[in-house]
Amino acid sequence: MKNGQPPEDENSDQDPHTVESLGVTSYGASTRAPRGDYSRNGQVKADYTCAQDYAGYTEADHDTYRRLHARQSALLVGRACDEFITALPALDQSGRAAHRIPRFDDINERLFKATGWQLVAVPGLIPEVAFFTLLSQRRFPVTDWIRTPQEFDYIVEPDIFHDLFGHVPLLFNPVFADHLQAYGAGGLKAHRLGACEQLSRLYWYTIEFGLIQQQGQLRAYGAGILSSSGELVHALSSQAPQRIALALLRAMRTRYKIDSYQQTYFVIDSFSQLFDMTAPDFTPFYRQLKNMSELAADASLAEDERMSPRLN
Ligand code: PHE
Ligand code: FE
Repeated sequence: MKNGQPPEDENSDQDPHTVESLGVTSYGASTRAPRGDYSRNGQVKADYTCAQDYAGYTEADHDTYRRLHARQSALLVGRACDEFITALPALDQSGRAAHRIPRFDDINERLFKATGWQLVAVPGLIPEVAFFTLLSQRRFPVTDWIRTPQEFDYIVEPDIFHDLFGHVPLLFNPVFADHLQAYGAGGLKAHRLGACEQLSRLYWYTIEFGLIQQQGQLRAYGAGILSSSGELVHALSSQAPQRIALALLRAMRTRYKIDSYQQTYFVIDSFSQLFDMTAPDFTPFYRQLKNMSELAADASLAEDERMSPRLN
């Protein structure tokens, strides 16, 4: 996952072998090694979860979180879907506005009561099957490290701000919470059917970068948009990307870029439309997709139902 525009020099100093030896998949085709300490003196469990290293955060880390939270909260009004705005205060430490990195245990008390979900700490990106397994158990993996101040506007993979601020508010919504668990179970099935890539694309274009039509306006519900100040404005208001009404097979055929703003966003009319669309058994769709070509991230088809950006 990314946030903002790529910097001049991408992390090219990392050992690409780490990816293979860990079996870690990042989103899309990437040879970058995942960042994060996956050994932690043997403290990372077989399911890739670990303890949130709260004592490891510096004052600078807390300050980075506070500044990201403040900038993003101000931008979200009228741009994030209502469900997200309603749930956002649940991240705050015991009712006080977030000035420090939240403790997962603190959020878990409220989250478990609300929807039966739990946050679990992970050292960074984890393999697809491990990821989908956790979702199917209503356990949401949250990266525990935070970006450096130099990465304030851009980071190519999920850090705690993306995972927590971007994803966790909607986990407080009971219907959305069930939807994410169904994704987990669906991901395990897709893995058995050799269709992980197809389901991951749908996840990317909905959970990470989804747009929704709400109150007569285009708004964002995807975590990758909601955790990025630059992409929030780009996704809603720029003339550059295309916006297309979500169609299941269309999204599952479309490749995506992990290191730039998206060129295509898929738009839903309502969450119930999304839930109804994803409720059927995907097995026949995966079979159909085997005979269909993939589409480039900026492909445009005659059947696409295109939508205009917002004026502001
Ligand atoms: N219905 C999908 C299947 O049978 C699983 C799924 C549910 C996928 C919800 C996405 C969201 O594979
Ligand atoms: Fe994400």
